Formats: sequence, C-alpha cells, structure tokens
Amino acid sequence: MNIQTQNTRTLLITGGAGFIGSNFITYMLENYPNDRIICLDKLTYAGNLANLLPITEHPHFRFVNGDICDRDAVYQLFEEEHPDIVVNFAAESHVDRSIETPELFLQTNLLGTAVLMDACRNYGIHRYHQISTDEVYGDLPLTRPDLFFTEQTPIHASSPYSASKASADLLVLAYHRTYGLPVTISRCSNNYGPHQFPEKLIPRMIVNALKEQPLPVYGNGENVRDWLYVIDHCKAIDLILHKGRSGEIYNIGGHNEMKNIDIVRLICTELGKSEELITYVADRKGHDLRYAIDPTKIHTELGWLPQTSFADGIRKTIQWYLTHEEWLNIILS
Ligand SMILES: NC(=O)c1ccc[n+]([C@@H]2O[C@H](COP(=O)([O-])OP(=O)(O)OC[C@H]3O[C@@H](n4cnc5c(N)ncnc54)[C@H](O)[C@@H]3O)[C@@H](O)[C@H]2O)c1
Repeated sequence: MNIQTQNTRTLLITGGAGFIGSNFITYMLENYPNDRIICLDKLTYAGNLANLLPITEHPHFRFVNGDICDRDAVYQLFEEEHPDIVVNFAAESHVDRSIETPELFLQTNLLGTAVLMDACRNYGIHRYHQISTDEVYGDLPLTRPDLFFTEQTPIHASSPYSASKASADLLVLAYHRTYGLPVTISRCSNNYGPHQFPEKLIPRMIVNALKEQPLPVYGNGENVRDWLYVIDHCKAIDLILHKGRSGEIYNIGGHNEMKNIDIVRLICTELGKSEELITYVADRKGHDLRYAIDPTKIHTELGWLPQTSFADGIRKTIQWYLTHEEWLNIILS
C-alpha cells in the first residue's frame, strides 16, 4: 500500500515468527523504512526464526523471545519500547490441535490477548489490532452458495480454536467500549503462501506430494474454503492500521472459494504427481462445511481488493516450497 509516514512509529508484532506474522513484518519493513518493528514470539512448534532470517539483522528490527501470557515480560517490553501500534498474530492456530488440547488455545488466544490489551491500557497506544479469523462465524451450508459472512453475521464458532478466537474478539470489543481502547479487528479467510507450517492443507499436500507420500483428505473432500494469498492479507491489515475506524471489524477475503479436493488435485497436477496418492481419511470432528467472506466493507470503506489470483498465488507458493528445502528441514526438525 505504501502510505508513507514521516514519523518513526514503533510496532509490536506478536506471533511474528509464524506464517502470516513473518510475511507481515517483512512487508512492513519493505514498505515503511522509518518504522521500527519489535517481534514478540514464544517460538512454539509453529514459530521459527528461519521465517525471519532475511531481516534479523535489519537495523529497525528487534526479536524478543517471550510469551504474550507472561504479564511481567509483556509489561517490561512496553516499558522499554512504548509501541505505538500492536498487531496481535500470536495464537495457537491449528483446529486439529485445539480438539486435542482446548485449554492451551484458551490460554494463548484469549488470556494472552487480555494481557496485551491490559499493557496497551497501562502504557497508552495509538492502535491495538487483533488478527481474527472467519472461523468465528461457524460455517455455511454447501447447498447455499448465495450466503456469505458479513461483519453482522452472528458469531457461531464450531471448534475450540474458533471459540477461543471468537472469545478474544468479544474481549477486544469490550475493552474498546469499557476503557475506550482504540482497537480494530480483522477476520480473514484461509491464507496460503510462503512460510506456512506444513500441517495446514496446502503446504502439507505440497510436502507429501514431493515425497510421493499419501495425501490425506478429510471426509469426501467437498468442504469449501475461501483462499487468499498471504501478501493480500498483509496489505489489508496495513490499510486497516492506516485508515480503519477504531472499534470496527473488517472481513478480509477474495471470493476465491475452492473445495479441498480440488486444491489437492491442482497441487498434484502442478507437481506432476499421480492423484492415486490421494487417500480419504475419517472426517475431522465438527468439520466446518463452507467458509465464504463478503469483503464489501473493506472494499468500499478502505479500497482494498486482492491483487494475486489463485492461479498465480498457488504457483508462487509451490515454487517457494520447491526452492526452500533447507527451510523445510529446519521447520520439520
Ligand atoms: N493461517 C490462516 O489461514 C489464518 C486465517 C485467518 C486468521 N488467522 C489468524 O492469524 C494469526 C496468525 O496465524 P498463522 O497461520 O500465522 O499462525 P502460526 O501458527 O503460523 O503462527 C503463530 C505464531 O504465534 C506464536 N505464538 C504462539 N503462542 C504464543 C504465545 N503464547 N506468545 C507469543 N507467541 C506465540 C508462534 O510461535 C507462532 O510464531 C492467528 O491469530 C490466526 O488465528 C490465520
């Protein structure tokens, strides 16, 4: 977006060693050379410094290994850095893991959010931005392609993951109303692109296909997701930080609905692998059927539109995984 700012801002980006956060930090350092970026990340299995390698030596970048739930550590960081803007990407983000260990999801996704917002209240902030998900809306029926999630769609979370994200959203709005904290929330559809941990659909299928290993597809593979290239998500967050109205929720999605099975077939075709690798496995408990975002608000209010077509984005993504074997070895170890 490159809305240049003259003044130096300090941004605290939590969860910035993960998939979307690392893409966002790289994007911001490229587009706002005056900004200073502090990344706070616990480096769970999903976070990795390998995602930040190209920028670890950047003079405007600082990495802090820490937990957003650790109140003392978070307050100490606010004392030191006095961030103007906080963008909270830090989360446990995998639905399957949330079904196994729901408590961890409540701890990080809900209580960690509360700690960050308390720090913002205590030290003052220009904007707190919460990275949420379209999964807070639950799912849509496969038989009603005319239905989409708008910002007015009621919260109807299906999994412990989405319930923890929805709870955090409610808390963020409550801090806005009760304490006047300047907040925004974005709810994005499924992202894909470089740095995504290979437990999620697209990188998992790429990695397995490259090794000629089975490609496990839940149920009948008919579940529909609305895919967005990660840099388009970063641009949307950038716009919300600059032009979004405090107290508002913005849905982010590019009208790119695809069935899981079609994604897997496409990856086989792109990599020249046989579709015989596809194996259907027992469906995920409570598996959401269809997600589909209506992005009218962010388009009309902020002028955002996705710029990467799925055809381009998936090729770039596959190419990235093909050329980053060392990254994969680090991540998988
Ligand atoms: N991936 C998607 O398709 C998608 C779509 C919509 C919204 N989101 C949301 O975007 C955010 C980022 O998702 P992602 O896919 O990049 O996730 P990710 O799992 O790749 O990264 C999460 C990051 O958070 C860090 N983290 C976890 N717990 C922490 C804690 N207690 N303290 C500090 N850091 C901690 C991890 O180390 C990791 O670096 C999440 O909030 C997620 O809910 C993701």
